[in-house]
Amino acid sequence: MNIDHVATVRNARGVAYPDPVRAALLACEAGADGITAHLREDRRHIRDEDMRRLKERLPAPLNFEMAPTDAMVEIASAVLPHAACLVPEKREELTTEGGLDAAGLGSALGRRVEALAAAGIRVSLFIEPDPGQLRAAVALGAPVVELHTGRYCELAGREQEAELDRIRSAAELAAELGLECHAGHGLTYDNVGPVAAIETVAELNIGHFLVGEAIFVGLAEAVRRMRAAMDRAR
Ligand code: PXP
Repeated sequence: MNIDHVATVRNARGVAYPDPVRAALLACEAGADGITAHLREDRRHIRDEDMRRLKERLPAPLNFEMAPTDAMVEIASAVLPHAACLVPEKREELTTEGGLDAAGLGSALGRRVEALAAAGIRVSLFIEPDPGQLRAAVALGAPVVELHTGRYCELAGREQEAELDRIRSAAELAAELGLECHAGHGLTYDNVGPVAAIETVAELNIGHFLVGEAIFVGLAEAVRRMRAAMDRAR
């Protein structure tokens, strides 16, 4: 589970609650296998101190989502999460809008992948489900990719089917290339099944929908229902 938006609600009031660490612990109890938090450059939700507390208190792997910058590499190397997922970041965007251009960023990105790996952090690149990007991830030495499911989630009908095929093919190619394959962005109870059913997808990262559902059914129940939807599809 991605817990960023628990911090968004906290920050809206400038007080100490709701605490994203408490949400993370509850999500793990309810069936989340790991927790993702995105320390954005503008600190609009998760803050440095949240990352340190998550690392200290979590019983499950912490995935540190971050822009591929030297400043973020330095923070991640101090926090030492289980994994780091490198994402493109634009200050004005509402959420991560597209995948990382692993193919275009080349050596600048490779240097950050290397630095994180040297700190013992498992590096993932958040990319579009595109063969060129997968091959670039291999060339840069990243052991994991996370496929962007945002387009699939926004589309409907035939267009959605076509995008799902693209994700399936990318997930198959990832396995052939020796990459561990994750997926995420925009997933809900209704659209998670076909992605969870892809055999070579080992991890899904889901945030905004779960935090929204928590308003209606509580966070633990939202996580349990999502987990059940994923397990049914598998
Ligand atoms: N994976 C990555 C790399 C993301 O940037 C995000 C959004 O922060 C997610 C997964 C989760 O997306 P959502 O909040 O739409 O479930």
